[in-house]
Amino acid sequence: MPARAAGRLPGEEIDSLEAPIDYGTAMNDPIARFLKTYERAQKKDPGDHTRVALATADENGRPSVRMVLLRGVDDRGFVFFTNYGSSKAHELAANPQAALCFYWESIKEQVRVEGTVERAGSDESDAYFASRERASQLAAWASKQSSPLESRTQLLAEYLKVKARFAGREVPRPDFWGGFRLRPQRIEFWSNQPHRLHDRVAFVREGDGWVKERLYP
Ligand SMILES: Cc1cc2nc3c(=O)[nH]c(=O)nc-3n(C[C@H](O)[C@H](O)[C@H](O)COP(=O)(O)O)c2cc1C
Repeated sequence: MPARAAGRLPGEEIDSLEAPIDYGTAMNDPIARFLKTYERAQKKDPGDHTRVALATADENGRPSVRMVLLRGVDDRGFVFFTNYGSSKAHELAANPQAALCFYWESIKEQVRVEGTVERAGSDESDAYFASRERASQLAAWASKQSSPLESRTQLLAEYLKVKARFAGREVPRPDFWGGFRLRPQRIEFWSNQPHRLHDRVAFVREGDGWVKERLYP
């Protein structure tokens, strides 16, 4: 029988309540902290780690949310790619504020990011578009994302049309497709802990730096 302190239930050892998020001086940069978390998620479940919910709101504040894939992150912010004629892009044009929410089941951690959104540079969008598979490049041309579509046959017809149009040459990036960068104002880390005593640390932009605080779960 393993020894345990009297009066405690299994799983209630003090050790298990130790916060896993370093709240010391070492990790004052939330982007560096995000990258560490992201790497851990990638190692545990490659592919899954890029999926993220993107929330936008229209000019009246009415929200909408959908999944996108994170395609870049650095000190400037979080980059995703989409159709500039889509509903989300129209919302971002009217109200350039957005939020991202990652959850990685493999490590049971959540990261929330809030900030302002701007278009990525055309060089950046060109480079990413060029790295995509040809079929995805053609699909970007064929899709009037978020517009009504009469039938799947119609979509296939559009696809075959652009396939023929670009036959034998490189597919250029459509000017209606490219990246957005969310510049974070707030980044919050959440880590699952026993007894619902989860750990939360929020970083809020202040001038050139960040202030951080721990929050009740
Ligand atoms: C896992 C996953 C990843 C997705 N990644 C993207 C993406 O990177 N870019 C994109 O435009 N749509 C992506 N989509 C589709 C969007 O969720 C959404 O349906 C589409 O962008 C239209 O959204 P909108 O009408 O709000 O603009 C993804 C969907 C899923 C389920």
